[in-house]
Amino acid sequence: MCTYHKIKMKLIKHFVFLTTLLLFTTMTITKIQAQEGKDLFTVCAACHTIGGGKLIGPDLKGVNDRQDEAWLIKFIQNSQALVQAGDEIAVKLFAENNNIPMPPNNLTDDQVRTLLKYIEEFDATKVVASTVQEKPAETVSENIIEPSYLRKADARKYGTTFIIVLILIMLALADLFVTRFIKAKFVHLIVILIAIFIMGEIIVIEAQGIGRQQYYEPEQPIAFSHKIHAGQNKIDCLYCHSTATKSMHAGIPSTQLCMNCHTVVKSGKITGTEEIAKIYKSLETQTPIEWIKVHNVPDHVFFSHAQHVEVGKISCNECHGPVETMDRMMQVSDLSMGWCIDCHRTREVQFTNNFYKDYKKLHEEINSGKRSRVTVDLVGGEDCQKCHY
Ligand code: HEC
Ligand code: HEC
Ligand code: HEC
Ligand code: HEC
Ligand code: HEC
Ligand code: HEC
Repeated sequence: MCTYHKIKMKLIKHFVFLTTLLLFTTMTITKIQAQEGKDLFTVCAACHTIGGGKLIGPDLKGVNDRQDEAWLIKFIQNSQALVQAGDEIAVKLFAENNNIPMPPNNLTDDQVRTLLKYIEEFDATKVVASTVQEKPAETVSENIIEPSYLRKADARKYGTTFIIVLILIMLALADLFVTRFIKAKFVHLIVILIAIFIMGEIIVIEAQGIGRQQYYEPEQPIAFSHKIHAGQNKIDCLYCHSTATKSMHAGIPSTQLCMNCHTVVKSGKITGTEEIAKIYKSLETQTPIEWIKVHNVPDHVFFSHAQHVEVGKISCNECHGPVETMDRMMQVSDLSMGWCIDCHRTREVQFTNNFYKDYKKLHEEINSGKRSRVTVDLVGGEDCQKCHY
């Protein structure tokens, strides 16, 4: 009886141990899978949401019920192969989505299954906020160029012309009065008049380039349209300007980032293949696209995007206007000192932020009900040295 009992106890122990182990392993695997699914999905998130509506491709919520798994695996690995093979569903989807091809994905069958599981279990209410913010930032920050790469202003390149024209005037004057090489005096006169005209024009162009440039709307090297990308195709601003939440600069996307989509989107409705071909050329010749910087504050001013976008929770549109309707980028605000200060006098800071815990007096006033809000000017938003180097 006693040995029987011992054996029974031993068996039970083994059983408990094994089930715990099994449970633990499955839990860990599920967790790893969920994380892996999330990581894999970052590529897809450029064009798909799960329950957030259509972007470039269809909303993927419920896709596991719409299509069967074997089809989904083939489609996600290489949708165009299915379209070309004449698969009925794939052809129909392709046509419904304006013939925008979905890029092929180099994924194993198991990886696609992990993705499909992630899509099925995705809880939009829980994750949307965090994925929207962190996902593009993490994955594409190496795709962002610091604005120092950008050409500052068009005007500067006239410097040499100005000097050449000036030398021409001197030569004409010298010949007129000293060397007398050319006999016909009207030649000198014409040269001088043309030179003065060119100089005048350069001075006007340069003057326009100096200082503030509200409504500045330069022609860009590629006719990139925010209306098409951020407006019609609803691509998140942070997908392309991912450093806006964590650094001074919002940054401009590199050619590589354009290629995430333009390996497959080879022509546009408005400009056909002409403008998109310039992206491929930039890649072939390895010369970055020379975007012209539209918004400029002078060098003596410090302005940080992270401070305003991430900490202050100010939307891009408040400072940059309705970007998603602009075919060509335009500076809408005047970026003057008055503009910064006006907002600082009326806008609240996120006063619960730990950063402001040292403002004891303000906190007391808030707690006692004497003050209902704290505007930026009260925490240093009007101090010269906060904005000036
Ligand atoms: C460049 C944009 C783009 C990317 C990136 C992308 N897709 Fe798509 N996807 C599309 C488009 C467009 C369609 C519509 C079908 C078509 O046009 O061929 C589509 C269709 C689908 C469908 C079928 C939807 C349905 O309603 O039946 C699935 C599933 C899908 N994509 C999954 C994925 C997954 C998973 C990823 C990431 C590995 C991904 N896609 C990445 C653009 C994209
Ligand atoms: C509080 C006002 C404000 C907000 C909010 C703001 N910006 Fe800016 N932005 C500016 C100013 C001012 C400049 C010029 C900065 C400079 O010359 O250094 C600028 C410049 C830029 C540039 C040029 C490159 C660079 O980084 O200097 C880009 C791109 C940009 N902003 C995108 C965005 C996006 C995207 C958002 C939203 C996520 C945003 N901005 C939010 C004021 C703002
Ligand atoms: C997330 C996907 C995506 C990214 C990233 C992207 N594009 Fe596009 N782009 C599209 C789609 C989709 C279209 C097609 C719109 C249409 O139907 O005409 C397009 C169209 C265009 C067009 C043609 C517009 C027309 O209608 O004639 C140009 C030019 C262009 N993109 C340039 C760029 C450049 C430059 C970049 C990088 C800075 C870029 N795109 C990044 C998705 C993208
Ligand atoms: C597909 C990529 C893409 C998306 C999405 C995108 N942008 Fe841009 N953005 C660019 C490119 C490329 C430039 C440089 C060319 C230009 O100025 O048009 C730019 C320039 C800008 C500039 C001017 C920078 C300067 O030179 O001063 C601002 C401001 C800006 N974007 C804001 C936004 C906002 C706000 C959104 C979201 C509503 C957004 N962008 C979405 C690619 C993108
Ligand atoms: C649309 C409103 C708005 C505009 C325009 C604006 N700011 Fe701000 N700024 C804020 C807010 C709100 C904060 C506080 C963010 C927080 O901490 O909650 C802030 C904070 C700051 C700070 C940090 C202040 C401190 O006490 O540490 C600096 C520096 C700053 N802004 C500079 C600028 C400059 C330079 C400009 C103009 C080129 C500008 N801001 C334009 C709203 C604005
Ligand atoms: C909220 C940010 C901010 C604060 C605070 C601020 N400035 Fe400025 N200041 C600016 C900006 C932005 C410009 C550039 C305006 C332009 O380009 O027209 C500027 C320009 C200037 C200029 C150059 C004049 C010009 O038109 O270019 C002087 C001088 C100046 N500020 C002095 C001060 C002094 C003194 C203080 C403190 C009392 C101060 N600023 C506080 C943002 C600020």
